[in-house]
Amino acid sequence: MLIDSHCHLNIKDFDQDFDEVVKRMFENKISRVINVGCDLKTSKRALDLADKYDYMYATVGLHPHEAKNFSKDILDEFEVMIENNQKIIGIGETGLDYFRNLSTEEEQKTVFNAQIGLAKRYNLPLIIHCREAYEDVYEILVQYDLKKVIFHCFAGNLEFAKKLWNHNWITSFTGIITYPKNIELREIVKNCPINSFLLETDCPYLSPQKFRGQRNEPAFMIETAKCLAECKSLDLAEVAELENQNIKNIFGI
Ligand code: NI
Repeated sequence: MLIDSHCHLNIKDFDQDFDEVVKRMFENKISRVINVGCDLKTSKRALDLADKYDYMYATVGLHPHEAKNFSKDILDEFEVMIENNQKIIGIGETGLDYFRNLSTEEEQKTVFNAQIGLAKRYNLPLIIHCREAYEDVYEILVQYDLKKVIFHCFAGNLEFAKKLWNHNWITSFTGIITYPKNIELREIVKNCPINSFLLETDCPYLSPQKFRGQRNEPAFMIETAKCLAECKSLDLAEVAELENQNIKNIFGI
Protein backbone atom coordinates (compact mmCIF):
# COMPACT_ATOMS: atom_id res chain seq x y z
CA MET A 1 0.00 0.00 0.00
CA LEU A 2 1.21 3.49 -0.94
CA ILE A 3 0.95 6.81 0.88
CA ASP A 4 0.02 10.12 -0.74
CA SER A 5 2.54 12.28 1.10
CA HIS A 6 1.21 15.64 -0.08
CA CYS A 7 -2.39 16.31 -1.02
CA HIS A 8 -5.07 18.90 -0.45
CA LEU A 9 -8.28 17.02 0.38
CA ASN A 10 -8.65 19.88 2.86
CA ILE A 11 -9.87 22.33 0.20
CA LYS A 12 -13.32 22.85 -1.19
CA ASP A 13 -12.65 21.08 -4.49
CA PHE A 14 -13.35 17.80 -2.65
CA ASP A 15 -16.42 18.84 -0.67
CA GLN A 16 -18.93 17.43 -3.15
CA ASP A 17 -17.64 13.86 -3.47
CA PHE A 18 -15.24 13.37 -0.56
CA ASP A 19 -16.46 9.84 0.28
CA GLU A 20 -16.14 8.71 -3.34
CA VAL A 21 -12.60 10.09 -3.52
CA VAL A 22 -11.66 8.14 -0.39
CA LYS A 23 -13.25 4.96 -1.77
CA ARG A 24 -11.31 5.20 -5.03
CA MET A 25 -8.13 5.90 -3.09
CA PHE A 26 -8.36 2.59 -1.20
CA GLU A 27 -9.31 0.73 -4.39
CA ASN A 28 -6.06 1.97 -5.92
CA LYS A 29 -3.78 0.85 -3.10
CA ILE A 30 -3.36 4.25 -1.44
CA SER A 31 -3.78 3.57 2.27
CA ARG A 32 -2.89 6.90 3.92
CA VAL A 33 -2.66 10.58 3.01
CA ILE A 34 -1.05 13.71 4.41
CA ASN A 35 -3.19 16.82 3.90
CA VAL A 36 -1.00 19.87 3.60
CA GLY A 37 -1.95 23.33 4.83
CA CYS A 38 -1.41 26.46 2.73
CA ASP A 39 -2.89 29.01 5.13
CA LEU A 40 -4.59 29.04 8.53
CA LYS A 41 -7.96 27.89 7.20
CA THR A 42 -6.66 24.91 5.22
CA SER A 43 -4.27 23.96 8.05
CA LYS A 44 -7.24 23.81 10.45
CA ARG A 45 -9.26 21.81 7.97
CA ALA A 46 -6.36 19.37 7.53
CA LEU A 47 -6.32 18.89 11.29
CA ASP A 48 -10.11 18.37 11.39
CA LEU A 49 -9.77 15.61 8.80
CA ALA A 50 -6.85 14.03 10.67
CA ASP A 51 -8.96 13.99 13.85
CA LYS A 52 -11.82 12.32 12.03
CA TYR A 53 -9.97 9.71 9.95
CA ASP A 54 -7.13 7.62 11.35
CA TYR A 55 -5.56 7.21 7.88
CA MET A 56 -5.21 10.98 7.42
CA TYR A 57 -2.45 13.23 8.77
CA ALA A 58 -1.96 16.99 8.67
CA THR A 59 0.64 19.70 8.29
CA VAL A 60 0.35 23.39 9.16
CA GLY A 61 1.86 26.01 6.92
CA LEU A 62 1.66 29.22 4.98
CA HIS A 63 2.31 28.98 1.23
CA PRO A 64 4.65 31.61 -0.28
CA HIS A 65 1.66 32.98 -2.23
CA GLU A 66 0.03 33.72 1.15
CA ALA A 67 3.10 35.38 2.66
CA LYS A 68 1.59 38.84 2.31
CA ASN A 69 -1.14 37.79 4.79
CA PHE A 70 1.31 36.68 7.47
CA SER A 71 0.93 37.74 11.05
CA LYS A 72 2.39 36.71 14.38
CA ASP A 73 -1.10 35.53 15.37
CA ILE A 74 -1.05 32.88 12.66
CA LEU A 75 2.28 31.58 13.90
CA ASP A 76 0.92 31.49 17.47
CA GLU A 77 -2.11 29.51 16.32
CA PHE A 78 0.11 27.03 14.51
CA GLU A 79 2.09 26.53 17.72
CA VAL A 80 -1.02 25.84 19.75
CA MET A 81 -2.21 23.36 17.12
CA ILE A 82 1.16 21.55 17.04
CA GLU A 83 1.43 21.36 20.81
CA ASN A 84 -2.01 19.84 21.16
CA ASN A 85 -2.14 17.41 18.26
CA GLN A 86 0.02 14.38 17.54
CA LYS A 87 -1.32 14.13 14.00
CA ILE A 88 0.33 17.34 12.85
CA ILE A 89 3.47 15.81 11.43
CA GLY A 90 5.05 18.56 9.35
CA ILE A 91 5.48 22.28 8.65
CA GLY A 92 4.51 23.60 5.22
CA GLU A 93 4.02 24.04 2.56
CA THR A 94 6.44 26.92 2.73
CA GLY A 95 9.31 28.20 0.64
CA LEU A 96 9.88 30.72 -2.13
CA ASP A 97 8.07 31.19 -5.43
CA TYR A 98 9.68 33.73 -7.76
CA PHE A 99 7.66 32.50 -10.71
CA ARG A 100 4.33 33.93 -9.66
CA ASN A 101 5.58 36.37 -7.02
CA LEU A 102 2.13 36.79 -5.49
CA SER A 103 3.92 38.08 -2.40
CA THR A 104 7.15 40.05 -2.55
CA GLU A 105 10.48 38.24 -2.15
CA GLU A 106 10.98 40.06 1.14
CA GLU A 107 7.60 38.91 2.51
CA GLN A 108 8.21 35.37 1.35
CA LYS A 109 11.60 35.18 3.03
CA THR A 110 10.24 36.47 6.35
CA VAL A 111 7.50 33.86 6.39
CA PHE A 112 9.81 31.09 5.23
CA ASN A 113 12.27 31.86 8.04
CA ALA A 114 9.47 31.92 10.61
CA GLN A 115 8.31 28.45 9.56
CA ILE A 116 11.84 27.06 9.57
CA GLY A 117 11.91 28.24 13.20
CA LEU A 118 8.79 26.18 13.91
CA ALA A 119 10.20 23.11 12.21
CA LYS A 120 13.35 23.34 14.30
CA ARG A 121 11.56 24.01 17.57
CA TYR A 122 9.23 21.03 17.21
CA ASN A 123 11.64 18.83 15.26
CA LEU A 124 9.17 18.43 12.39
CA PRO A 125 9.94 17.94 8.68
CA LEU A 126 9.81 21.05 6.52
CA ILE A 127 7.82 20.78 3.27
CA ILE A 128 9.24 23.07 0.64
CA HIS A 129 7.45 24.71 -2.26
CA CYS A 130 10.13 26.12 -4.55
CA ARG A 131 9.70 27.71 -7.93
CA GLU A 132 12.49 29.54 -9.73
CA ALA A 133 14.10 30.16 -6.36
CA TYR A 134 16.34 27.13 -5.90
CA GLU A 135 19.53 28.99 -4.98
CA ASP A 136 17.85 31.23 -2.40
CA VAL A 137 15.95 28.34 -0.80
CA TYR A 138 19.11 26.25 -0.64
CA GLU A 139 21.15 29.06 0.89
CA ILE A 140 18.57 29.66 3.61
CA LEU A 141 18.18 25.96 4.46
CA VAL A 142 21.92 25.42 4.75
CA GLN A 143 22.20 28.31 7.23
CA TYR A 144 19.73 26.59 9.54
CA ASP A 145 21.32 23.16 9.32
CA LEU A 146 17.98 21.40 8.90
CA LYS A 147 17.89 17.60 8.88
CA LYS A 148 14.36 16.82 7.73
CA VAL A 149 13.53 18.58 4.47
CA ILE A 150 11.21 17.57 1.64
CA PHE A 151 11.29 19.30 -1.72
CA HIS A 152 7.67 18.88 -2.71
CA CYS A 153 6.95 18.33 -6.43
CA PHE A 154 10.63 18.41 -7.30
CA ALA A 155 11.15 19.98 -10.73
CA GLY A 156 14.74 21.22 -10.60
CA ASN A 157 17.73 19.81 -12.45
CA LEU A 158 19.87 16.77 -11.68
CA GLU A 159 22.79 18.81 -10.40
CA PHE A 160 20.60 20.54 -7.83
CA ALA A 161 18.91 17.26 -6.86
CA LYS A 162 22.34 15.80 -6.07
CA LYS A 163 23.06 18.72 -3.75
CA LEU A 164 19.86 17.95 -1.86
CA TRP A 165 20.55 14.22 -1.67
CA ASN A 166 23.99 14.99 -0.20
CA HIS A 167 22.17 16.51 2.78
CA ASN A 168 19.91 13.45 2.98
CA TRP A 169 17.01 15.68 2.00
CA ILE A 170 14.07 14.29 0.08
CA THR A 171 12.92 14.93 -3.47
CA SER A 172 9.20 14.20 -3.74
CA PHE A 173 7.65 13.31 -7.09
CA THR A 174 4.21 14.10 -8.48
CA GLY A 175 2.29 13.09 -11.62
CA ILE A 176 4.43 15.43 -13.71
CA ILE A 177 7.08 12.67 -13.93
CA THR A 178 4.63 10.85 -16.24
CA TYR A 179 4.46 13.68 -18.81
CA PRO A 180 6.13 12.61 -22.06
CA LYS A 181 8.25 15.76 -22.33
CA ASN A 182 9.71 15.43 -18.81
CA ILE A 183 12.62 13.22 -19.83
CA GLU A 184 15.10 15.01 -17.57
CA LEU A 185 12.80 14.58 -14.58
CA ARG A 186 12.62 10.82 -15.16
CA GLU A 187 16.41 10.81 -15.31
CA ILE A 188 16.38 12.42 -11.85
CA VAL A 189 13.96 9.76 -10.60
CA LYS A 190 16.28 7.10 -11.97
CA ASN A 191 19.28 8.62 -10.15
CA CYS A 192 17.47 9.32 -6.89
CA PRO A 193 18.78 7.21 -3.97
CA ILE A 194 16.11 4.75 -2.82
CA ASN A 195 15.94 6.37 0.62
CA SER A 196 15.55 9.92 -0.76
CA PHE A 197 12.19 9.88 -2.56
CA LEU A 198 8.54 10.30 -1.69
CA LEU A 199 5.43 10.08 -3.85
CA GLU A 200 2.58 12.57 -3.80
CA THR A 201 -0.32 13.84 -5.88
CA ASP A 202 -0.52 17.51 -4.83
CA CYS A 203 -4.16 16.99 -5.77
CA PRO A 204 -6.38 18.63 -6.98
CA TYR A 205 -3.44 19.86 -9.12
CA LEU A 206 -0.97 18.05 -11.40
CA SER A 207 -2.87 14.99 -12.62
CA PRO A 208 -0.67 12.29 -14.16
CA GLN A 209 -0.66 11.94 -17.93
CA LYS A 210 -3.45 9.32 -18.01
CA PHE A 211 -5.85 11.73 -16.27
CA ARG A 212 -4.47 15.01 -17.55
CA GLY A 213 -7.03 17.79 -17.65
CA GLN A 214 -9.08 16.22 -14.85
CA ARG A 215 -9.08 17.14 -11.18
CA ASN A 216 -6.33 15.08 -9.55
CA GLU A 217 -7.05 12.81 -6.54
CA PRO A 218 -5.08 10.33 -4.38
CA ALA A 219 -6.25 7.30 -6.44
CA PHE A 220 -4.35 8.61 -9.45
CA MET A 221 -1.03 8.36 -7.59
CA ILE A 222 -0.83 4.74 -8.69
CA GLU A 223 0.21 6.05 -12.14
CA THR A 224 3.08 8.03 -10.63
CA ALA A 225 4.17 5.01 -8.60
CA LYS A 226 4.17 2.84 -11.75
CA CYS A 227 6.28 5.41 -13.58
CA LEU A 228 8.79 5.57 -10.72
CA ALA A 229 8.91 1.76 -10.59
CA GLU A 230 9.70 1.65 -14.30
CA CYS A 231 12.41 4.33 -14.05
CA LYS A 232 14.12 2.45 -11.23
CA SER A 233 13.52 -1.09 -12.54
CA LEU A 234 11.56 -2.05 -9.43
CA ASP A 235 8.16 -3.65 -9.07
CA LEU A 236 5.25 -1.82 -7.49
CA ALA A 237 5.46 -3.77 -4.22
CA GLU A 238 9.10 -2.76 -3.82
CA VAL A 239 8.25 0.88 -4.49
CA ALA A 240 5.49 0.74 -1.86
CA GLU A 241 7.80 -0.82 0.68
CA LEU A 242 10.51 1.79 0.07
CA GLU A 243 8.06 4.66 0.16
CA ASN A 244 6.57 3.45 3.45
CA GLN A 245 10.05 3.19 4.93
CA ASN A 246 10.96 6.70 3.74
CA ILE A 247 7.73 8.11 5.18
CA LYS A 248 8.45 6.39 8.47
CA ASN A 249 11.99 7.77 8.56
CA ILE A 250 11.02 11.37 7.99
CA PHE A 251 7.49 11.65 9.43
CA GLY A 252 7.65 8.92 12.05
CA ILE A 253 4.33 7.36 10.96
NI1 NI B 1 0.70 21.45 -2.55
